[in-house]
Amino acid sequence: MQVLFLEKNNFHVYLAENADDAVDEVRKHAIPLVLSDIRMEESDGLSLLRELKKRDPKIVMILMTGFGSMEGAIEAIQKGAFDYISKPFDLNKLLALINKAVKHIHSQNQEEKVTLPVALEGPRTLIGRSPEIVEVYKTVARATLSASTVLIMGESGTGKELVARAIHANSDRKNKKFVAVNCGALAETLLESELFGYVKGAFTGAQSDKKGLFEDANGGTLFLDEIGDITQGLQVKLLRVLQEGEVKPVGSNELSKVNVRIVAATHRNLEKLVQEGKFREDLFYRLKVIEIEMPALRERKEDIPELSELFLKKYSAKLSKKVATISKEGMQALMAYNWPGNVRELEHQIERAVALTSASVLAADDFDFSTSRTTPAIPAPMVPAAAPVLYSGGSLDPRSLEDIEKEHILRVLKEVDYNKSKASEVLGIDRATLYRKAQKYGIALKSDSEK
Ligand SMILES: Nc1ncnc2c1ncn2[C@@H]1O[C@H](COP(=O)(O)OP(=O)(O)OP(=O)(O)O)[C@@H](O)[C@H]1O
Ligand SMILES: [Mg+2]
Repeated sequence: MQVLFLEKNNFHVYLAENADDAVDEVRKHAIPLVLSDIRMEESDGLSLLRELKKRDPKIVMILMTGFGSMEGAIEAIQKGAFDYISKPFDLNKLLALINKAVKHIHSQNQEEKVTLPVALEGPRTLIGRSPEIVEVYKTVARATLSASTVLIMGESGTGKELVARAIHANSDRKNKKFVAVNCGALAETLLESELFGYVKGAFTGAQSDKKGLFEDANGGTLFLDEIGDITQGLQVKLLRVLQEGEVKPVGSNELSKVNVRIVAATHRNLEKLVQEGKFREDLFYRLKVIEIEMPALRERKEDIPELSELFLKKYSAKLSKKVATISKEGMQALMAYNWPGNVRELEHQIERAVALTSASVLAADDFDFSTSRTTPAIPAPMVPAAAPVLYSGGSLDPRSLEDIEKEHILRVLKEVDYNKSKASEVLGIDRATLYRKAQKYGIALKSDSEK
């Protein structure tokens, strides 16, 4: 069927029975593009790829596989496959991929692609086989081949940090440090001295020189989490580092060279921030050399069973409980929910259910979605229900603006389970402002529910 389809689209297709056959055919007809299964009867697609690459490093190969895993994608791409498609796939998708490959063949210059050793590392891996997450695997795989800056965007709990770690752990920097910093959690001056370091006497309290995180991560990867939260001043400084590859510690005039791979992440819509003039466009483009958009869990619900399975195993072991499975109704409940907090929320939900149950099967009523909010695209206005601003009788609400503000902040914080990023988003203020207001009203910002 595929052959017919491709021939209809004006490709000349040669068929091979097995890997040896394929090598012969490719040589005989100087075939530039090979399509192969990863799993074949006698040999496998990856050794065929190796064999073909040995003879012609420029050969372009697309691998097809019945399963989508991050390791599979990384291995295929690192070994030099042009692309990777997981079955079942749509023929038009295959055609689009082939057309892309043909373009690549035409434009291929003399330069050869470097292939890295295949050793796969990283204690934790991403789970899921949906087309959406397989796309992520592929970009992760490509990102491991270079030191280009990566920008990871996506809602809270979608796995942005996990992706950043996977890129590092599978790149040639894996033996150097992975340093993570949450840009949203620190005030501007503190973040600056954390990132770039300082020299003795730079400010009160600077008793000796201190190395910054850029230098700390030298040779490795620096993960700038919540990059959308950095101030304009720091944006300029960061841009300079990205352009020049040099850092200047606070209070110093000396620049030092650093070789750091930057992976940045944000749950905010950076493009919108750029349009609003809140985020520098030049920095945005510098950051998104490689762009990864994390799909929300509700967009890839087919991954819920596999993820649940993983978390079930993890927490039964951790909590020494013999919870073996999730009942059919239980799974239906998980599938029906829309997961505003994404994979993290699913993990918490399962952890909680395992902790509380005394049965060996999790049923629908072991899950509790009442404390989570479902996220509509536009957050519903959260007007304090108990005390409307205008009393129905028409008389004026006696509370001051500050009272109302305090109440509203508290309510929102509770709604989002004290997740500061989410709360600031709902409130339409940045995190620094949230901190300031919390301090003003004596609201405790719990730190355990958020990193
Ligand atoms: N595809 C996945 N497979 C397995 N575990 C996952 C996956 N995605 C996320 N997780 C788990 O979900 C949790 C949240 O992931 P992570 O911290 O990477 O998300 P995030 O996007 O950085 O969230 P936030 O924006 O809230 O910081 C982690 O415990 C992580 O291990
Ligand atoms: Mg994160």
